[in-house]
Amino acid sequence: MEKQNRGNFTSNIGFVLATAGSAIGLGNLWRFPYLAAKDGGGLFLLIYIILVLTFGFALMTTEIAIGRKTGVGPLQAYGRMNKRFGFLGWIATIVPSIIFPYYCVIGGWIIQYGFTYVSGGAGHIYEVGAKSFFDGFTTSIWEPLLCFLIFMGASAVIVLLGVEKGIEKASKIMMPILFILIIGIAVYSLTLSHTDENGVTRTALDGLAIYLIPNFDGITFPKFISILLDAVGQLFYSLSVAMGIMITYGSYAKKDSDLLSSINHIEIFDTGVAVLAGLIIIPTVFVFQGSEGLAASGPSLMFVSLPQVFEQMGIWGHIIGALFFILVLFAALTSSISIMEAVTASLIDRFHLTRPTATALCFVGALVIGVIVCLGYNVFYLDIPLPNGTVGQILDVLDYITNNLMLPIVALLTCVLIGWVCKPKSVIEEVSIGLNGKKFHRQTLFVIMIKFVAPVLLLVILLQAFNLLSFLG
Ligand code: PHE
Repeated sequence: MEKQNRGNFTSNIGFVLATAGSAIGLGNLWRFPYLAAKDGGGLFLLIYIILVLTFGFALMTTEIAIGRKTGVGPLQAYGRMNKRFGFLGWIATIVPSIIFPYYCVIGGWIIQYGFTYVSGGAGHIYEVGAKSFFDGFTTSIWEPLLCFLIFMGASAVIVLLGVEKGIEKASKIMMPILFILIIGIAVYSLTLSHTDENGVTRTALDGLAIYLIPNFDGITFPKFISILLDAVGQLFYSLSVAMGIMITYGSYAKKDSDLLSSINHIEIFDTGVAVLAGLIIIPTVFVFQGSEGLAASGPSLMFVSLPQVFEQMGIWGHIIGALFFILVLFAALTSSISIMEAVTASLIDRFHLTRPTATALCFVGALVIGVIVCLGYNVFYLDIPLPNGTVGQILDVLDYITNNLMLPIVALLTCVLIGWVCKPKSVIEEVSIGLNGKKFHRQTLFVIMIKFVAPVLLLVILLQAFNLLSFLG
């Protein structure tokens, strides 16, 4: 009865596309390429793919199985697995409640860039310079607020429409377009070449080599550990685990569906899009800005380096820029609906609210936090020091607390719950339901991961977040 009221994905492909839609987001399109550029290209890629198939697989399977088994949102799901872990439900619900508003603020920035490119106004970005444009936009008051509201409003409408008519439908429309766009832009970017003012010609294929061939030069043990930790951190952010999302979407999965095959597809889509994003960004930035451009491209990659590159592409830059920001917008939107849904579902399940009331509550809460985040670039501007030695604004502080502290804590405690308290069989049994007699191929791997490897990796990530690994150099 309870399940019918909550809604369900009507098809397996709907479940896969919605879940892949959640996983594929800014993490794939923006964070993955810049980490790959920073961490030795192919070496990072290799470590990342190995981790997806082991660590990522175990975490994702666990959460989706918890969701389907308990049939409720994250706030109650942990407690239903084991009473003593009810508190974990609260943390796992607070995380998306914090991430949602600031993700929508970044979504708003994408709306602004998307609108500027689609309306043919990119010339303005080039006139003032990409960096000044970005700084000018984020430090102004009304524009970022308006864009934030549009992005969050769009997410809220989809969530309000419910699981089948909102989330599943939106994912079925946006995800195929996203795949076509990213493949198209990747093919185009591999044809690029450019001769700079010193007469040096660089081709995309040289950039591709930097991206794909593992570079072991100067790789010391501490450096290797830092690449590994970057890859682990990126992975569980990218798969949307430890934020209650996979539990929520798992709770809408059909009881007789083959979760393992769905998870394989989700992993392939998520990793495929991240790899393609790197394939677009690394060779393109290399062609127009050389290795120095790549080295300088930190988090400002998407809003500063790429517009600079689009400028150098001439007329093609306007077209590719517009398509690129539409791609990013779809990726961000399918992620933001998933995070809003995790909070909304928890409110519906725990407090028996109707969907409109739960969505409205979530919207109002996020509005308050989101406005404060937007104003953090002007009215409330502060340079807040972070444990990793950088300074940031309110958005960076929320991002640090959630990504570096709360996500690893939730993931670690989830591993303890499933690995040691409920035992891996609780997940294996749930997964086996839809297998129709087929074998769970990675079962032993799953058990080893969830009991031993994942907790150790997550613990190390936590130590690093508190800066306790500085002795490694
Ligand atoms: N997996 C998302 C990404 O790669 C992360 C995310 C999902 C963040 C949902 C917020 C909401 O960007």
